[in-house]
Amino acid sequence: MIESSDFRMTRIPLNHGGGHMPAVGFGTLIPDAAETIGATRDALEAGFRHFDCAERYRNEREVGEALQAGLAAGGIAREDIFVTTKLWNSNHRPERVEPAFEASLDRLGLNYLDLYLIHTPFAFQPGDEQDPRDQNGNVLYDQGVTLLDTWRAMESLVDHGRCRAIGLSDVNLNELLPIYESARIKPAVVQVEAHPYLPETELLEFCKEKGVVFLAFAALGHGMRPGPLEDPVISAIAARVGKTPAQVLLAWAVQRGTALLTTPRTAARAQENLNISALPEDALDEINRIKTRQRFNEVVKTGIPGFIPQGR
Ligand SMILES: NC(=O)c1ccc[n+]([C@@H]2O[C@H](COP(=O)([O-])OP(=O)(O)OC[C@H]3O[C@@H](n4cnc5c(N)ncnc54)[C@H](OP(=O)(O)O)[C@@H]3O)[C@@H](O)[C@H]2O)c1
Repeated sequence: MIESSDFRMTRIPLNHGGGHMPAVGFGTLIPDAAETIGATRDALEAGFRHFDCAERYRNEREVGEALQAGLAAGGIAREDIFVTTKLWNSNHRPERVEPAFEASLDRLGLNYLDLYLIHTPFAFQPGDEQDPRDQNGNVLYDQGVTLLDTWRAMESLVDHGRCRAIGLSDVNLNELLPIYESARIKPAVVQVEAHPYLPETELLEFCKEKGVVFLAFAALGHGMRPGPLEDPVISAIAARVGKTPAQVLLAWAVQRGTALLTTPRTAARAQENLNISALPEDALDEINRIKTRQRFNEVVKTGIPGFIPQGR
């Protein structure tokens, strides 16, 4: 059951570890280091309590710095925020999982994580090169490790008490099912692209049935235009309820029972994206009837990320 006395602060229980995930999360995929620090501080100040990171974003140090400073300045306890980071494709070999986890924790300046995700189901050649390629520019995949091998190593992290919950990202139902069935510690969260143009209804139904949190990224369609932010149905509802299109999209995501990520880069946007309220039923129905279908991020097909900060 979803807790929702204050809609903006809706929290979803996790099936493992006893924790709750704040439904509205701040994504830290921001290319510029200074901007990462400023946006993370602004998000914390605006009231975001869920922060989504990744070793692949190459900015865990900046996010950690901003969080430490923001927690101290705001008198906020570590337990009051929910922090996720992700294992990158080049660290899927079981012996690389714990060192990668510890390195992320060290960069973030934390002593435990609320959630650790396998970033994509694609294993790349193991090593410190995040984007290994052959001489023709083709990605070097690693055939020597299965997703289940990596999952077993993730389970050990939970056993050792450094990470409260584990999950997967960029998986479809066919990839999730065998892991779910074989797992000793079931995935607590699945993070995938989702918005009215890609509702992922079948996966969402499975997650609801099993108590797995469905965490939507690109809740605003990655801000692409044309895209959900400019959809006429969304704009009309926004005008009708006195909210912005972004607020309508984010409210829809919470009301259909998902958690979501958004990346406001200014203080004003952070306040806007958190200041959501429940939509009337007819508005939800209208959004659910949108027929346009579009995926904005191809990472699920190859493991190669669409948007990555360069030069760190
Ligand atoms: N698992 C994965 O493979 C994966 C992939 C991608 C992302 N993610 C995670 O998901 C997070 C969210 O990323 P996202 O791209 O999906 O974020 P998003 O918030 O859906 O989209 C960001 C875009 O929306 C625009 N935007 C934000 N708030 C707005 C508002 N109130 N009104 C109008 N436009 C607005 C931004 O504009 P400006 O450019 O003007 O700021 C930016 O272009 C990432 O930070 C990352 O943590 C995960």
